Amino acid sequence: MKIYRTADYQEMSRTAAMILAAQIRLKPDCVLGLATGSTPVGAYEELIRQYRAGYLDFSQVRAANLDEYRGLTRDNDQSYYYFMQQNLFKHVNIRPENTFIPDGSRQDSDEECARYEAVLSQLGGVDLQILGLGHNGHIGFNEPADTFAKVTHCVDLTRSTIEANRRFFEKEEDVPRQAYSMGIGTIMRAKKILLLVSGSEKAAILREVVAGPVTPRVPASILQFHPDVTLIADEAALSRLNA
Ligand code: GLP
Repeated sequence: MKIYRTADYQEMSRTAAMILAAQIRLKPDCVLGLATGSTPVGAYEELIRQYRAGYLDFSQVRAANLDEYRGLTRDNDQSYYYFMQQNLFKHVNIRPENTFIPDGSRQDSDEECARYEAVLSQLGGVDLQILGLGHNGHIGFNEPADTFAKVTHCVDLTRSTIEANRRFFEKEEDVPRQAYSMGIGTIMRAKKILLLVSGSEKAAILREVVAGPVTPRVPASILQFHPDVTLIADEAALSRLNA
């Protein structure tokens, strides 16, 4: 795992955007695996800035998202579909038909997960996958479990994730209890992975992810076995790693 230490969130975001931009320039029709959450927002803003300045062209880029809440329709302002439109897609020239995300409005989870996994295969795999890190070590919505999920699946969200995501919803009851998520196996098939982590509240879990045992109890720890992972984290998030 390569580790880039940055001073703060802004530098983490700029560094991530540089790597994403380089990927798009090297392979204009690349498949980007995209994440939601507050962590990648700064990198997306930087990509939008570069697009507006005429440095980046998304016309051939394909984008596949990690996950989506089960039960939310696309027009729900808390859906990840909506998040991606607001935070990236509507600001750049990516083609809507080249953007993919599990469909939270589909109730038949087996069917929807199989459909999404087939979409990813048809795309030929993800070239560069962006990941944020959940407080309990989750990636996508792969929550701590007894085993690593191989493919896209329906997840029961843990109490800690429901509480962490509560801030985006009016009431706790509004936070969906389930999600569709790429599996750990799906994520591990990406050619390159960029893990972004910011803030002291992630320092303890980041230490487990990078230096602890590889275990499905800390889902992101599996990244220790991926051949091409770059961690970009700020000082605060890395503060427990030197101890
Ligand atoms: C959600 C998403 C994850 C994300 C995590 C961390 O649970 N499913 O993909 O990495 O939140 O979010 P944040 O970046 O806001 O800390």
